[in-house]
Amino acid sequence: MDTKITQIRMSDYPGNRAPREIWQTTHDALPELRDGQVAARIDFVSIDPGMTGWITDKRGYMPPVRAGSVMRAFGVGEIIESRSDNLAVGDWITGFLGVRSHGVFNDKDVRPIAVEMAPPELFLSGLGMTGYTAYFGMMDIGRPQPDETVVVSAAAGAVGSMAAQLAKNAGARVIGIAGGAEKCRYLTETLKLDAAIDYKSENIGARLDDLAPNHIDLYYDNVGGDILDLALERMKYRGRIVVCGAISQYDKETPQGPANYLQIVMQSIKMQGFTMRDYMHRVPEAVQELSVGLKDGSLICRQHILQGLDSFPDGFEMLLAGANEGKLLIRVDHQSA
Ligand SMILES: NC(=O)c1ccc[n+]([C@@H]2O[C@H](COP(=O)([O-])OP(=O)(O)OC[C@H]3O[C@@H](n4cnc5c(N)ncnc54)[C@H](OP(=O)(O)O)[C@@H]3O)[C@@H](O)[C@H]2O)c1
Repeated sequence: MDTKITQIRMSDYPGNRAPREIWQTTHDALPELRDGQVAARIDFVSIDPGMTGWITDKRGYMPPVRAGSVMRAFGVGEIIESRSDNLAVGDWITGFLGVRSHGVFNDKDVRPIAVEMAPPELFLSGLGMTGYTAYFGMMDIGRPQPDETVVVSAAAGAVGSMAAQLAKNAGARVIGIAGGAEKCRYLTETLKLDAAIDYKSENIGARLDDLAPNHIDLYYDNVGGDILDLALERMKYRGRIVVCGAISQYDKETPQGPANYLQIVMQSIKMQGFTMRDYMHRVPEAVQELSVGLKDGSLICRQHILQGLDSFPDGFEMLLAGANEGKLLIRVDHQSA
C-alpha cells in the first residue's frame, strides 16, 4: 500500500534541554506487512505523564524510547490492511501505536477494542489505561469502604478524577486536591466530591485537619513530594496509601522522598505502588465495571482533545504545566497528516 505517514520522533534524550527541542516530524512510507502484522490508520493519540519516564535513559518500568525512534504513545486506530489470522480490515485496535498517523504492528502487540460499545477515544481515557489505573489502584489496592475518609491528589486529572469518583461511588467521603478554584469547583459541583482543597492557594495541612479531623483512611497519591508528606502525617492507624504516581517529582534530578516515612511504622500504614503491567490480565473486568458507570452517568470522564499531530510538542508542555482539563488526547487530522 502506497501510504505516506507522518511520525513524531524523539531525536535525543532531553537532558537539561526543554523537551520541545527534541521532537522531529518525519514523513515516511508505510512499511510492507509481514505475516502476523496489520497496518492501522491511527485516529487518536494519548499524551501521558508516563512519557516523561520514557524519554530518559534511566531504569524505569519499561525500556526508554531510543533516540531517533518514533515517540511511544497509546493510540487507537482502525485496521486498513491485514496479514493476521486474528485481526481483520475494519477492526479497531489499541496499544502502543506511537505518535503517528499510521503504523504497522504485530497482531500480538495490540488489543482489539469494541467501538460499538463506546467512541474509540474513550478507550484511551475512561475505558483505557487511565480508567484501568484508577480502577485497579482504587478498587483492588485501596479498597475504599463506606464512610471512610479518602483523599485523592491531582483529583481533577485524568486518573485522579476517575479514582475519586470510584471511591465516592463506594460510599466513602472523598476529599480531592487540585490546583485552582476552577478545578476545585469541578470536583465538588460536577463530580460531587465532598470537599476540594486548592493546593495552589490554600494551606493544605490546615485544610486536611479541618476536613479530616479523625485522620485519613486511604490516600490515593498521584503527586508525591510535599503533599504526600502532609498526608502521611495525617494517616489513621492502619491507613492505606496507594502510590499511583509522583507528578510533582518527574522533572527533578533527584526525586524528593517522604520525610514523614516513619509514620508508616508508627501508624502501621500499608503503602503500595503499582503499574498497569500488574493488571493487564484483568483488563476485561475493568472495562466491564467502568463501562457501566460511564453509561449510567455515575462516572464522568472529561477529555481535552487537541487537533493534529503537530500539536504534540505543545500538548506535552501543556501536560507538564497541568494546563489540560481532563484526559489529554490528540485527534489525528488525516487531511493534513
Ligand atoms: N501507576 C500507573 O500505572 C499509572 C498509570 C497512569 C498514570 N499514572 C500516574 O497518575 C498520575 C496522574 O496522571 P494523569 O494521567 O491523570 O495525568 P493528568 O490528567 O495530566 O493529571 C495530572 C495533574 O497533576 C497535577 N499536577 C501537576 N504537577 C503537580 C504538582 N507539582 N503538584 C500537584 N499536582 C500537580 C496537574 O493538575 P493541577 O492543576 O491540579 O495541578 C495535572 O493536571 C501521574 O502521576 C501519572 O504518572 C500512573
